[in-house]
Amino acid sequence: MKIYLSPPHMSGKELAYIEEAFASNYIAPVGEFIDRFEEVVKKYTKAPHALALCNASAGIHLALRTLGIKEGDKVAVSDFTFIASLSPILYQKATPILIDCDTSWQMDPEALEIALKREHPKAVIVTHLYGQSANIEEIANLCQKYGAYLIEDAAESLGATYKGKHTGTFGIFGVYSFNGNKILTTSGGGMLIGKDEKLMQKARFFSTQAKEPGYPWYEHKTYGYNYRLSNILAAIGVAQMEVLDERIAKKREIFAWYQEYLQDSATFMPELPESFGNRWLTTALFETDPLRIYEYLLSKGIESRPLWKPMHLQPLCKDYKFYGKGMSKQLFQQGLCLPSGTQLTKEQVEDICEKIITVC
Ligand SMILES: Cc1ncc(COP(=O)(O)O)c(C=O)c1O
Repeated sequence: MKIYLSPPHMSGKELAYIEEAFASNYIAPVGEFIDRFEEVVKKYTKAPHALALCNASAGIHLALRTLGIKEGDKVAVSDFTFIASLSPILYQKATPILIDCDTSWQMDPEALEIALKREHPKAVIVTHLYGQSANIEEIANLCQKYGAYLIEDAAESLGATYKGKHTGTFGIFGVYSFNGNKILTTSGGGMLIGKDEKLMQKARFFSTQAKEPGYPWYEHKTYGYNYRLSNILAAIGVAQMEVLDERIAKKREIFAWYQEYLQDSATFMPELPESFGNRWLTTALFETDPLRIYEYLLSKGIESRPLWKPMHLQPLCKDYKFYGKGMSKQLFQQGLCLPSGTQLTKEQVEDICEKIITVC
């Protein structure tokens, strides 16, 4: 049996809710389940406003567009992240400034402050990596001090908190992803959350093709996007939200199993003091070349994945400024994401660890 990195795990209610959506005939990017999905995410995270979208990348793009980020503007962004944190900066023809991580694996506030002083970026996009909270309070304070908008890429960290407050709710905007491999999935989907009602209304306007209100026909003074989520997928999302706490508990349990079995062979991504991570993926550093472990597991039908290749090492980003000491590169060279699906048993994790130990 093949073991995947983080496959979907249904709650069992999805089909019933999809049938309800079918019965209503709202097979469209409008309908009751979209409203319900937004409501449950708001209630869970205590975000004042939520907008269900076709994916999280669209959410980051909408955040930048809504804030008026445009050509000539600079946007500081986590260097140790997935490309989707950065691509929307390019959609807006703005310039990314890459900020390294520190030993927490998360954006380094010291490097960020230097970049804020020198580059004056209009916005900062910080990723909460692998389900753990970034040093978000310090980063939010720096953004305030230097007058930059804070956008949180919480695509991987739904349910993770810092000092009891949900990741995604510190900045002016935050995004969650419901992609197929995330802690919850709608097959593909995202949620933009925000504090400011007017900005969220503007984001909603852009997400549905920027149709001017008050006209019987479609009147356009600017252009928008087709970024809303389907009502059918929102029905899956409502069912998935019902098991979020259970999924987080299982992800954390899987992490604890890896820690137990690999205590002499690996070191693990830390969790910042006063934070609570969802441990979306268990990630670890090895003395051995992680690609050897990756290849070996693959030959046994087990999917793992190298850590995100830092943005400053991507050919796409060779001309962008990078602030930091090279921590992300070091982590990339040593680390691996281990299978973390919430249907894994303790025996399977033990078996994976035994295989890892044979090549360590
Ligand atoms: C850190 C990060 N940001 C953004 C995204 C983009 O999310 P989506 O696939 O929903 O667009 C992902 C995952 O896919 C991610 O891991």
